[in-house]
Amino acid sequence: MAKREIITLPDPLLRTVSKPVKTVDASTRKLMDDMLETMYDAPGIGLAAVQIGVPQRLVVIDTSKEDEEKQPLFLVNPEIVWSSEEEADYEEGCLSIPEFFDMVTRPKEIKVRYLDREGVEQERLCDGVLATCVQHEIDHLNGILFIDYISKLKRDRVVKKFTKAQKFARSGA
Ligand code: NI
Repeated sequence: MAKREIITLPDPLLRTVSKPVKTVDASTRKLMDDMLETMYDAPGIGLAAVQIGVPQRLVVIDTSKEDEEKQPLFLVNPEIVWSSEEEADYEEGCLSIPEFFDMVTRPKEIKVRYLDREGVEQERLCDGVLATCVQHEIDHLNGILFIDYISKLKRDRVVKKFTKAQKFARSGA
């Protein structure tokens, strides 16, 4: 496994729609292993391939607690096939928007269909933080960020902050 660099706002790649994965092979597994290592190192609970600059429909998630055994989930071409009417609020963050957090309202429960690490189709009912995380990561595959759900005023402010920081870094200062 190898740690990769995580791209951050305002990288335009974060706004692209990722391409479906045609076959789950050794290179797919290698990429997902790299994603998992990068996510654990960050640390984070979810990561989409586009966040390491690879616009393919791949997601890794692990919502296990620190004192629990790791429970990595590998999702290839994930799709939400059902979502509950009931909604839940969670304070979200994103490895591509470091140190910014805000409340987002999403369906409380969802059912996700995906291919697992071996390319076998699976369905899984998710609730709690896992439901939020799966929705957040699938959004990444569609070029959507959690800041798209907050007020325009707050969003403009965070985008401006990151754009300025990037210019500052590029100037070599
Ligand atoms: Ni994110």
